Amino acid sequence: MTRSPGASDVTAPGSERRERLCAIDLFCGAGGLTEGLRQARFRVVAAVDNDELAVESYKLNHKRTRVWRDDVAQLNPATVMRALGLSPGDLDLHAGCPPCQGFSSMRTRNGKLDITDEQNDLVFEFVRWARAFQPRAVMLENFPALRDDARMVRVRAALRKLGYHLLHDVLNAAKYGVPQRRRRFILVGLRDGNPRFAPEVRRRRTVRDAIGDLPAPGSGDDLGRRPVRREHDRGRLDPRLHVRRQLRARRGPQRRARRPPGGDRPRHPDPC
Ligand SMILES: C[S@@+](CC[C@H](N)C(=O)[O-])C[C@H]1O[C@@H](n2cnc3c(N)ncnc32)[C@H](O)[C@@H]1O
Repeated sequence: MTRSPGASDVTAPGSERRERLCAIDLFCGAGGLTEGLRQARFRVVAAVDNDELAVESYKLNHKRTRVWRDDVAQLNPATVMRALGLSPGDLDLHAGCPPCQGFSSMRTRNGKLDITDEQNDLVFEFVRWARAFQPRAVMLENFPALRDDARMVRVRAALRKLGYHLLHDVLNAAKYGVPQRRRRFILVGLRDGNPRFAPEVRRRRTVRDAIGDLPAPGSGDDLGRRPVRREHDRGRLDPRLHVRRQLRARRGPQRRARRPPGGDRPRHPDPC
């Protein structure tokens, strides 16, 4: 994808940055997707999330992006476009990861899908924003279960109607250089031309590749020196023990009894 002329309105003139594609990040959370886009040399000019802590974290992570702490469903995209000095068609990429708890198969104890979460309707907000911005490309990321959901069929139809050529699949991040097995539903759309996924890497990265150079635990940072199995002065538990206790409690005999034959929950560790 090459740069659109209108995007110059939001990029600083006179530098290499002028060549960068500009993007917005809907449901931005603490900014993980924005970080990926930044590493892919996009300039993320706007981000929206309604969660106070997420927005505070996002601002710490991405100081140059304008952030709206708002309900995406209530916020008018025209307001954001005006604030950025953009017109419909100027934006290069509209990206987003709508809340996906309802699409997670972790929610069900027997591995069956039970998609009832009303938050899932927020995927249609992604389309509403695409209609307003008319970006050159769209990219939506979510749980694998979204691929087969009826709402996704409607989302794809609506995006096609807006003129996008679409490509979607469930991809494993491990095949793209991420040191983690993480399957995600990815939908990309281009207004001009057919989208393609990036080629898979030839050699997968391991966790050792990624963080193997960090010092061993306890070899310098303060956390490693703190006693773990000690109660606080006022009789409260060390927070780390507290978490561990909760985890143990949740693994109690009742839950074990409900385990399906042949194993525990399906393997979908994505906390989203
Ligand atoms: C799956 S997370 C996004 C993660 C993010 N893409 C990242 O990389 O960190 C979904 C986000 O949607 C936000 N959210 C949920 N409902 C929302 C709404 N109605 N309007 C705006 N944000 C919302 C949540 O606060 C959460 O941060």
